[in-house]
Amino acid sequence: VDPTLDLAAEINRLKKERNAVILAHYYQESEIQDIADYIGDSLGLSQQAASTDADIIVFAGVHFMAETAKMLSPQKKVLLPDLKAGCSLADSCPAPVFKKFKEKYPDHVVVSYINCTAELKTLTDICCTSTNARHVIDSIPRDQPIIFAPDVNLGRWLIKETGRDMVLWNGSCMVHEIFSHEKITKLKMAHPKAAFIAHPECEAHILDMADHVGSTSSLLRFTRESAFDEFIVATEPGIIHQMELAMPDRVFYPAPPNNTCACNECPHMKRNTMEKLYLCMEHELPEIKLPEWVIERGVKSIDRMLEISA
Ligand code: 13P
Ligand code: SF4
Repeated sequence: VDPTLDLAAEINRLKKERNAVILAHYYQESEIQDIADYIGDSLGLSQQAASTDADIIVFAGVHFMAETAKMLSPQKKVLLPDLKAGCSLADSCPAPVFKKFKEKYPDHVVVSYINCTAELKTLTDICCTSTNARHVIDSIPRDQPIIFAPDVNLGRWLIKETGRDMVLWNGSCMVHEIFSHEKITKLKMAHPKAAFIAHPECEAHILDMADHVGSTSSLLRFTRESAFDEFIVATEPGIIHQMELAMPDRVFYPAPPNNTCACNECPHMKRNTMEKLYLCMEHELPEIKLPEWVIERGVKSIDRMLEISA
């Protein structure tokens, strides 16, 4: 790409010319968030994908999110700037292996976190996101046994919150499982007035320290509505951009990771760049394609979730 090109201007031009909408997750880099038509969590993004009247959905997020958009709007063209923008959590639950696992529990209902592949959604009764997970579990009769996949940390947190015993798949998010308890404790000691907030994909020993646990949108709302002036934020640091925009007078510290990583940026989310966004809109590629049977079977689990989340 010509380095003198004004990428933001080009992207805005292409949006109009192609009748495209850009949906971005909070973990995208700040420039992408700033140019998006909608920025949100996984639930908000699915609701937008289901209701948009644009011809093209450009998904600034990861593969499973763009797949979800395609399943909800199969007649639309769904573009993902980099097809390699995957997700360690979705990868931790391959559909053929899960199918065998599920056979061991024929009486169980399958609840899957939306962070899973389209194929896994075909083996799922109802999806959830971290925003509505508690609500989805509570909507299932108490005597009905449940398998929860693929995130074991979110699953454990839900067991604690809902008092329901669930069979858990042992998957995890590479970003949220590397927070350092020791370094967070030190940061809390250095900023004793700061609230510690965490995403439920974090491990239980991190969640146990938190003043508030919630999805990205819930963490954002907490920082807006609470009386704290400082926050230690245990999730992907991309969300801090929206926090700083909404509350420029508050201070946000990204919670530190253990020594295996320099930061908690999601390498998959961060594959998307302004350049790739521009190129994908210019060439209308790469496009998400799914077999019809996957869309037909898989979308039911997302529709059920959206019906009870409206
Ligand atoms: P939410 O934004 O729905 O909380 O999801 C977090 C996440 O890890 C997305 O990949
Ligand atoms: Fe997947 Fe974790 Fe990245 Fe979200 S932050 S896309 S769950 S690897």
